Amino acid sequence: MLTDAWGRAVTDVRISVTKRCNFSCVYCHDEGLGPVARPGAPHGEELTVAEVERLVAVAREFGVRSVKFTGGEPLVRDDLEEIVGRTVRQIPDVSLTTNGSLLAGRAAGLRDAGLKRVNVSIDTTEPEAFRRIRHGAIAPVLDGVRAALRVGLTPVKLNMVVFRDTVAAIPRMVDYVAGDAGLRLQLIQFMPELVQHERFSVDLRDVRRWLEEHASTVLVREMHHRRIYLFGSTEVELVDPVRNPEFCANCHRIRITHRGELKGCLNRQDDLIPTRGLSDARLREAFRQVITRRVPYYGGYITDIGASVPERFVAAGASAPKARGAETAAAASGALGARAEE
Ligand code: 5AD
Ligand code: SF4
Repeated sequence: MLTDAWGRAVTDVRISVTKRCNFSCVYCHDEGLGPVARPGAPHGEELTVAEVERLVAVAREFGVRSVKFTGGEPLVRDDLEEIVGRTVRQIPDVSLTTNGSLLAGRAAGLRDAGLKRVNVSIDTTEPEAFRRIRHGAIAPVLDGVRAALRVGLTPVKLNMVVFRDTVAAIPRMVDYVAGDAGLRLQLIQFMPELVQHERFSVDLRDVRRWLEEHASTVLVREMHHRRIYLFGSTEVELVDPVRNPEFCANCHRIRITHRGELKGCLNRQDDLIPTRGLSDARLREAFRQVITRRVPYYGGYITDIGASVPERFVAAGASAPKARGAETAAAASGALGARAEE
């Protein structure tokens, strides 16, 4: 297993198989690679099945335990089942993050190819709001979620980006997942780093308070002290990476772009290592290099975030690349409070 200079082992690879998408969400960071492309856009540069297979083989040699496919929207590719099938032969724990709109007809085939789980991005259960935020229709996405549940791609994790336009919909979203034991909800803090839109950010303290007050039980996972809010038997989690050094301290993931570049951090574009055309030996070297160069974004790359930086980062930080100025996030929002009191 490869470990970076900050003691973080890399156990997980996220592979973007396309930057095309049939939605265009107002908050989309597209894995930090600029705006998504339309589904019909030229895509000759996308990783081939054989290229994915070779990258996964090397990841496996280095002890990577799980692979997540992402995009853009991975299901715009007709050969995703084949990609999954070739991957699971080497690393069995394979999952997929999808917008869900093309999932209903393919869930069974993906399961048969060996896919274990899916994350479906939802944000709201309200059709008009969904269309405003995602520029797409909700009905096929809900069909996709049901199909995933039916064929056993479980737990089906619903991703909800928490920002100005969704925060009031949290209680309804929680109601939606609480009705089904196969569902989980991940409330993902809007990340302004790659899309700017600072005005989208909301204060998560209100969200956390609402969850604490309304959950039937609050569990604290021993690892990372992450809190799980139980609504009945359904798990709801708040994922809060923005300006959070603890989050970065626990990041065990590298990324691979749709062009096959290795990428050490979602928030950076200056750490890409191209792999196309490399010999096997050079490809292994590229993996070692991307991991050696990894720096926790908050606490290592951006350091002006106050006193909450974990001890070992402060010590190691002296040798880290120079930090750039951090942006101000967080604009307060009373929307959730208002809705919770209704
Ligand atoms: N902030 C937080 N999450 C985002 N996603 C996309 N853009 C952002 C952003 N700016 C989420 C989507 C999807 C996953 C791929 O990333 O909701 O679940
Ligand atoms: Fe971006 Fe995903 Fe939305 Fe497509 S569905 S626009 S990739 S967040």
